[in-house]
Amino acid sequence: MKIALIPGDGIGPDIIDQAVKVLDAISRKYNVKFSFEEVLMGGVAIDKTGVPLPEETMDICKNSDAVLLGAVGGDEWDNLPGHLRPEAGLLGLRKGLGAFANLRPAILFPQLKNASTLKPEVLGDGLDIMVIRELTGGLYFGEKGREGEGTEERAWDTLPYTYSEIERIARVGFELAMKRKKKLMSVDKANILESSRLWREVVTKIAKDYEEVTLSHMYVDNAAMQLIRNPKQFDVIVTENMFGDILSDEASMLTGSLGMLPSASLGKGTPGIYEPIHGSAPQIAGQDKANPIAMIMSVAMMLRHSFDMEQGALAIERAVSKVLDKGYRTGDIMEDGKELIGTNKMGDLIVAEI
Ligand code: IPM
Ligand code: MG
Repeated sequence: MKIALIPGDGIGPDIIDQAVKVLDAISRKYNVKFSFEEVLMGGVAIDKTGVPLPEETMDICKNSDAVLLGAVGGDEWDNLPGHLRPEAGLLGLRKGLGAFANLRPAILFPQLKNASTLKPEVLGDGLDIMVIRELTGGLYFGEKGREGEGTEERAWDTLPYTYSEIERIARVGFELAMKRKKKLMSVDKANILESSRLWREVVTKIAKDYEEVTLSHMYVDNAAMQLIRNPKQFDVIVTENMFGDILSDEASMLTGSLGMLPSASLGKGTPGIYEPIHGSAPQIAGQDKANPIAMIMSVAMMLRHSFDMEQGALAIERAVSKVLDKGYRTGDIMEDGKELIGTNKMGDLIVAEI
């Protein structure tokens, strides 16, 4: 299985190293072979080639079986024009691979209940929410612009969706709901946005094909509030690109840290992209401080969704849980009485459990 590796910027290389160690362990345990090809994207690509997503990177990713991505971005590239920023590389990759369905599971390890900023009784046991974020449309990809000067200068972004874009992401939502609790929450802003009114109409229409699934709708502001008021009411959430970006960061805090959440970005017949939902945290890059668990859990998602290796995925998830059981923590999830360790040690301990 051919994997394109994109370490990217900041802590990206630190955590990608741990992902590769984990894949080597899986390879030994299950006697499967992974080959890796490292490619440039983000700030490093800008420095070396002048663009955030070189053509060669896109070609290699397209010809791989899956893409494993660390993180991109950093202060030194913040003043470049939008289309030359590291983030533009990420958006180009998602779009180029047609990765429209972004699965962001927010699962609370019971061991980390106290690391969450929410009260344990709000979280209950076994919180498990799946945020499905539409990833190649909406506000991120709509027409944008800037014109005029001085106090008359104006800028705009637009939020377009077509019927078929909404239908295909809604179907991902219903299919996943069928495999889980048969509950789907569609999040929109249909009281204000025309695109949300179309969104709600289409999702409601598609629901007729999934009679067993209970569909509800919620406005995004209310959803943001309900997520911290009573997160247990949610199972599968499906929503627009920008709303999903915001709500998935919020959902991650239920689980204790942004450093815990993996993601899978899937298209149809194209290689999936697997990446942690957190950013590149340049302030701790190269210092052996980053939590590699979101990255390692992204590897588990890759095994599950791209390689049909459910056993391998479970082995990784169980290994992470065991290391947490034994009391090892990186700084972001540290609590009194636990043992503080670095990125590498966390990777090694997880490998040992596998
Ligand atoms: C994410 C990130 C990205 C996004 C950034 C880095 C462009 O926040 O994956 O959630 O906004 O999609
Ligand atoms: Mg985000």
